[in-house]
Amino acid sequence: MDWICGNLADYRGLLGSGCIGVEDGFIRSVRKAPGRGRVRDYTGTGYIVSPGLIDIHVHLRGLEYSYKETEETGGRAAAASGITLVIDMPNTLPRADNRETVRAKLEALSRAPVDHGLFAAIPRDPRRVEELLSEAIAGFKVYPEDLYERSGGVKGALSSGSLVVLHPELPEAGSAVAEDLVSREAHRNCGFEAAAVEVLAGMGGGRVHVTHASCRSTIIAAKKHGYTVDVTPHHLFYSTLTGAGCMYRVNPPLRPWHEPSWLVYMLLEGLVDAFASDHAPHALWEKSDPLYCSPGIPWLESWPWLVYRLVSVGALDLSEFLWLASRGPAVVAGLEDYGVIREGARGNILVYDPRAVWRFPGPAYSMARHYPSTMARMAGRPIEVLVGGETVFIGGEVIEGVRGVNPFTWRRP
Ligand code: DOR
Ligand code: ZN
Repeated sequence: MDWICGNLADYRGLLGSGCIGVEDGFIRSVRKAPGRGRVRDYTGTGYIVSPGLIDIHVHLRGLEYSYKETEETGGRAAAASGITLVIDMPNTLPRADNRETVRAKLEALSRAPVDHGLFAAIPRDPRRVEELLSEAIAGFKVYPEDLYERSGGVKGALSSGSLVVLHPELPEAGSAVAEDLVSREAHRNCGFEAAAVEVLAGMGGGRVHVTHASCRSTIIAAKKHGYTVDVTPHHLFYSTLTGAGCMYRVNPPLRPWHEPSWLVYMLLEGLVDAFASDHAPHALWEKSDPLYCSPGIPWLESWPWLVYRLVSVGALDLSEFLWLASRGPAVVAGLEDYGVIREGARGNILVYDPRAVWRFPGPAYSMARHYPSTMARMAGRPIEVLVGGETVFIGGEVIEGVRGVNPFTWRRP
């Protein structure tokens, strides 16, 4: 058995000084002192030993978008920031709405150094939903155009009992008449987000999660229907005042400053279920035309420690952070054995220094170069990261050769 000892914490808060014993990828024992085997002892260092972080909304690209990012480069970026499980999105090329592409994506994801899942896209033919259900997917992702063009498939996904993740915008939001960021925000306004939640709710009951809520009205609409909801670091911390260039072009768009203020308020009030980054890497040339550049902000290598500033200033409790960045996303995804320190849970562990204050120097592993968080002040810093008990990050570097698993092969969505 491998033991990791120190100041343990999870979403229940600080658990005290103790040791976690991991064997064959899972936590087998949690006790005061280590048993026989290899011991890593962080007792007395001031570091915190917590479950690995989880990001349920990332775009690792791959396939024909491998020039933007791959499952391996994005997976390393995740490991470097303490994220040990990512769930990938299906707006790939080709689109992951069929068995062949889903299998190709799962195969590529199996080479990532962190645990991983994949949402399938809604197929045009509703009868194909059934075929995707027999693959090890995390659920389905519903994009705005699916609500109109693939409504049969959306209804099939809802009634299947799988997790259905909604991108809450309507296709009409895409027909902006002016493309500068402030005009875009006015066209793709908050009303479209709440309306998209209502349109989906009108299509039948199901297990729904609303992702990247950028407005308070989206969270209210989601909660009205009993849905879970996540927020991104950019919709929390950036606004239309932050920047006007391509770096800040994203869907849904950044909002006027009062919306991020509301999001932080609702987060602190406990109305948000998870953080999710919407890590959206692009090539630099796709991020250069000021009006028509590709939307998306890359985050995987930095976001937890930007968000941790809320803990370091005393706004968010440690337990709340470990809920929003680990246990909450696990529960949303239906993964009861993630995001918690207890016997039987997956041996994904993060050791971090809660006192560290530093500036993010820019990505070392992610292929994306357009990180707006480059040189931003960070609070808290990963020291060691373990996936299934194996060290994947230590001494500031990602270790080669570690492979994550897909928990949806043993947990059906
Ligand atoms: O900004 C975004 N980028 N929003 C999306 O919905 C998609 C994503 C991407 O895939 O680049
Ligand atoms: Zn996305």
